[in-house]
Amino acid sequence: MNESHIRHAIERKREGCELDHDLWQALISAYMDGVVDDAQMAALCMASLWRGLSEMEIFALTDAIVHSGASVRFSDAIRVVDKHSSGGVSDIVSLVAVPLAAACGAKVAKLSGRALGHTGGTIDKLETIRGFNVALSLDRFVAQVESIGCAISAQSAEIVPADKRLYHLRDHTGTVPSMGLIAASIVSKKIAGGAHGIVFDVKTGVGGFMRTKEEAAELGRTMVDIARRFGRSATALITDMNEPLGTCIGTGIEIAEACELLRGERHEDRAVDLVVDIVRAMLRVSDLPESAERVLATLRSGDAYTMFCSMVEAQGGIASTLDSLHVPRSGGTIIAAGASGFVTAIDVVRLGNLGRMLAMSDPMNGIVMNARLGSHCDAGTPLFTLYGSADALGDLATIVSLAPSPSPQHALVAETIG
Ligand code: URA
Repeated sequence: MNESHIRHAIERKREGCELDHDLWQALISAYMDGVVDDAQMAALCMASLWRGLSEMEIFALTDAIVHSGASVRFSDAIRVVDKHSSGGVSDIVSLVAVPLAAACGAKVAKLSGRALGHTGGTIDKLETIRGFNVALSLDRFVAQVESIGCAISAQSAEIVPADKRLYHLRDHTGTVPSMGLIAASIVSKKIAGGAHGIVFDVKTGVGGFMRTKEEAAELGRTMVDIARRFGRSATALITDMNEPLGTCIGTGIEIAEACELLRGERHEDRAVDLVVDIVRAMLRVSDLPESAERVLATLRSGDAYTMFCSMVEAQGGIASTLDSLHVPRSGGTIIAAGASGFVTAIDVVRLGNLGRMLAMSDPMNGIVMNARLGSHCDAGTPLFTLYGSADALGDLATIVSLAPSPSPQHALVAETIG
């Protein structure tokens, strides 16, 4: 590929033309070889953002990113599932769903990321467990899934190196929010991760990267279609992020909440409801029997907690430290309602950023929520409690909006695709 080929490809995308499969392969491979420079790739990303990418182009780009590095291979004798969240606040689903699905018989190979923007990262949370190794080699990752049934590891440097470079470039050039580029980035990681079945949890609402249900559904549909073109079973759930999913926001404090859920200590809970829906989808794409009763019975039996402890020990963590881990329920700084009213909006982005900041000094620092959308508060009712230094953080009560009448409720799962 020479200079004039590269310029011609950028100009064609700028004019809204479809670039063919071989051209996308050549462009990504030339980028990794240093023949296409960052300025040219940024121009191509911006043209792709404005002009859009066809499904053929998203597939071609995904394929090129997958082939930029190594891929995980599992034995053909087992069927492996992975799940991916597009990013949320108090999103403890992976921590509970991975061992729960494994306890129900699935083989779960979860490659996870770190915090991105205001959203939390499963890897940052797991790292707070003493000794836990978040950086398994690919061989150890495969062996652990095959032996105990599940593993959660950070994506290694060998997998999708092109995505790493592209993501960094997009972050610097305002080209992240392109449906096609996001779909290729996410699906390439899942394909390289080796799973046969994939469940996408696409968050929508004020705390998600996709603000509207329509945008989230389009992303979900695109990712399911692309994953299927790679021969994988896939499904996407469009789920609500207009309020934090669980009650804790931080890192170690979210591990404490996940442990309470896994020990079956909490039943009537939004997070449990979503975990059950996600696990059912994981079992479906694994061709295993699924029902809410079966999943809930496994959760209540303690088998999911035992599986979580086995995973922690297999990855070098000290599982006995988890038994006494609980969400803090006293102390802290209470942020109370200044007047009475119904909770009509919660600034999830501000909460997510605050939770990340508080957890930096101590993993058990963070936020514990009391307010829920639609609930009624009197003046003085605790909205949430902060653990960690609350000095100079401004008027935190404004994070929760109160009004004389409730606003319409958001469905926890707005749509299931595939
Ligand atoms: N998450 C990813 O992995 N990639 C994107 O482009 C956006 C969110």
